[in-house]
Amino acid sequence: MTEAMRKDQPLQAQDRWNVTLQLVRASEEAAVAAAHWRGKGEERAADEAAAESMQDALNSMQIDGRIIIGEGTHGEAPMLYADQKVGSGEGAQIDIAVDPLEGTTLCAKAQNDSLVAIAASGRGGLMRVPQLYMHKIAIGPGYPEGTVDLDNSATDNVRSLARAKGVPVSEINVCVLDRPRHGELIAELREAGAAVRLIRDGDIAAVIHAANAAESGVDIYLGSGGAPEGVLAAAAVKCLGGFMQARFIADRPDLADKLAEAGIKDWNKVYSANDLASGDVIFAATGVTDGTLVQGVKFAASTVTTSTIVMESWSGAVRWISARHAR
Ligand code: FBP
Repeated sequence: MTEAMRKDQPLQAQDRWNVTLQLVRASEEAAVAAAHWRGKGEERAADEAAAESMQDALNSMQIDGRIIIGEGTHGEAPMLYADQKVGSGEGAQIDIAVDPLEGTTLCAKAQNDSLVAIAASGRGGLMRVPQLYMHKIAIGPGYPEGTVDLDNSATDNVRSLARAKGVPVSEINVCVLDRPRHGELIAELREAGAAVRLIRDGDIAAVIHAANAAESGVDIYLGSGGAPEGVLAAAAVKCLGGFMQARFIADRPDLADKLAEAGIKDWNKVYSANDLASGDVIFAATGVTDGTLVQGVKFAASTVTTSTIVMESWSGAVRWISARHAR
């Protein structure tokens, strides 16, 4: 795609660093707020604390910000709803996708892998999606085109991936959300001989792991999960240079209607990471509980330590920021 064909506004070079650091701050603040609710069994309170804190941080930014993906639509969600304006209203025009607490149940039960996720781009650089499910597939960079495809069977995908990686299928690690709806998928993968890593929640981190196989040991992510999480994960995959495809699940008339209301006519379309996150994107995630991607928030008498991963699509830089804040 040439610059002239772009439909989104590029993120101006002078705004990038400032926006990146401010997103990290918003992500850190939401994580600290949620961490106060770890293990309290209160999913909603944890989510609201994270959302409120993130909203405050975003509103303190010198940007003309707009939420593209948030806690729901206007009327559905009290804060961080789609199309909500955030920031001072002056400065760079920024679109923002947020999941103030990914893995609310994990946080409420103080289990590993709950985190805060946020992505940003210039205007039009992140796709608006309704709260539906999507089928998703993701692998890391460096494989030949067509190695895996959402339209292929799980068996064909793991066989082809094993061939491309030069290992037997038994050494292919597949990450899947542990859900009854994935029963057949899991059985098929095991029948094919792959190793299935089941996770309780959190497919943003799972997709990131698949795009970063050398460090995570996860070769491929397969299965269905939230569409908003799909856009956030796509932003990260774009930064990491991995491969991802996703397709809405609209197999009932009411779901197809929901897609139509969102202006999406072709519900059968397969979206690439670049379709979901077409712009120059920044992605950041901060751990709430300890996790495989980032460590959780650590409270001490006079300090709070946060751990954030932040990446940018224009340079491919990935940074891990460990920050100690005064209480
Ligand atoms: P929440 O943080 O909203 O609980 O979402 C966690 C999550 O596991 C996502 O990562 C995933 O996309 C989605 O739930 C899957 O939905 P479901 O739990 O309905 O299978």
